[in-house]
Amino acid sequence: MLLESGGIVHLDFRRPSTALAPAFEKFLSVFLAEDHDMWPVDCVFGLARTNLPAYIEFLQLASEGRGLPDRWVSSDTYWAFAGDEMAGEVHVRHSVRGTLWRVGGHVGYSVQPKFRRQGVATAMLQHACNRLRELGEVDALITCWDENAASAGVIEKCGGVRIVDAVDAGHKARRYLISLV
Ligand SMILES: CC(C)(COP(=O)(O)OP(=O)(O)OC[C@H]1O[C@@H](n2cnc3c(N)ncnc32)[C@H](O)[C@@H]1OP(=O)(O)O)[C@@H](O)C(=O)NCCC(=O)NCCS
Repeated sequence: MLLESGGIVHLDFRRPSTALAPAFEKFLSVFLAEDHDMWPVDCVFGLARTNLPAYIEFLQLASEGRGLPDRWVSSDTYWAFAGDEMAGEVHVRHSVRGTLWRVGGHVGYSVQPKFRRQGVATAMLQHACNRLRELGEVDALITCWDENAASAGVIEKCGGVRIVDAVDAGHKARRYLISLV
């Protein structure tokens, strides 16, 4: 583990590439059955499990707003490395539209179990907010399922102010705004 003086893991943010595919495969293989699944097979993110080169290509095109499924928005993805090991993945959607206003918002993130509770998701969300600021967004909308205490904690640590909840297919989602100005 690469700890900086404050006990925080030092992270390098890299763009997805085929050269990093082995590190991503290892990362994906250690998620827990009870974790919220960020790569469901019924959505294009499921390519991460079924066809990793296609997933990487999708992420590369998505950052240029190309090859997007209907109603998807362009997004940047960063793979956060601690040394040679991939600790987390964060998606930064350039804008919010449609159902993303209810669930999804601007940012999605995941951290592999052994790196949790060391500030990795907090650093990734801060990185995402910096990118959104660069893109000219004024507020970041961040959502999580009501029962996802870990994600709610990350958002609150980054200054998220809770706004009205949303309900998606009977499932309650918390919604927060982080001011970027
Ligand atoms: C949610 C998740 C990304 C958190 O990652 P993390 O790197 O452990 O988060 P951080 O270390 O930055 O935690 C920041 C704060 O969140 C809260 N928190 C984090 N994990 C928590 C947990 N398991 N239980 C309660 N609070 C938690 C704490 O307040 C923590 O601050 P502290 O450690 O100083 O007390 C990680 O648990 C994960 O990948 N889960 C599976 C995927 C997922 O749910 N993604 C989010 C979908 S919305």
